[in-house]
Amino acid sequence: MARRTTIRDLHKSAQEGRKLSMVTAYDAFSARLVDEAGIDMALVGDSLGTTVQGRDNTLAVTLEHTLYHTEIVARCTRRAFVVADMPLGSYQCGENAAVANCIACIKAGAQGVKLEGGARVTRLVQRLTEAGVPVMGHLGFTPQSIHATSGPRLNKAAETLLADARALAAAGAFALVLEMVPAAVAREITAACPVPTIGIGAGPHCAGQVLVFFDMLGYSPEFSPKFLKRYMQFHEQALAALNQYRSEVEAGKFPGEEHSY
Ligand code: KIV
Repeated sequence: MARRTTIRDLHKSAQEGRKLSMVTAYDAFSARLVDEAGIDMALVGDSLGTTVQGRDNTLAVTLEHTLYHTEIVARCTRRAFVVADMPLGSYQCGENAAVANCIACIKAGAQGVKLEGGARVTRLVQRLTEAGVPVMGHLGFTPQSIHATSGPRLNKAAETLLADARALAAAGAFALVLEMVPAAVAREITAACPVPTIGIGAGPHCAGQVLVFFDMLGYSPEFSPKFLKRYMQFHEQALAALNQYRSEVEAGKFPGEEHSY
């Protein structure tokens, strides 16, 4: 029987040069698929605000939402390392409350938590590490600061990113997401950091890659940032299937005798 991936497994794979894969998961459907596909890590991303809740950004996601989805993803995976993405407000509320909120996500079934930010969260990362809570950092474009950055852009110099990455790793972070970081900078951080970097829009030199489940499967054809590769055209295929079903029902072609008891 498959056993749950550990941080040691992730670090060993990265040391051996095998790239790590991470995909977001939010519910039984996505969690089971991600797990069955052998993806290393399932991220219960706060992207659930846009993908599942239909909002414009991730800001309205609450700790309760994250706990609810983390519990489902943990229950519906056997092998993937599950990371709960701490939503805005759940770790900017004083260190004691932040530690309690992260521990709540571990109790919900996550193996680790992800926090956005560099220097401003390193003390917290250290406290969580001391408390036995594995932390994944997130540098570069940090969607929870979208108002401060005036949109999806990187507003930090390469030296600051490198210093932040080193500080997070020194504080105990087990991996770092690099979002929309120039490929050359991501390569430098990856070479300088003792923990795996997981890129999204950060070029080919990171130790691993993350994509949002719905984006990579082509749920929203209108969303096509440069970093995205679609591995199927779900929207078109699902729409065609639903249209066919509707017209067969309307025409009395489905259900037939063979579909009855
Ligand atoms: O919320 C999310 O899905 C993320 C990934 C894009 C890294 O933070």
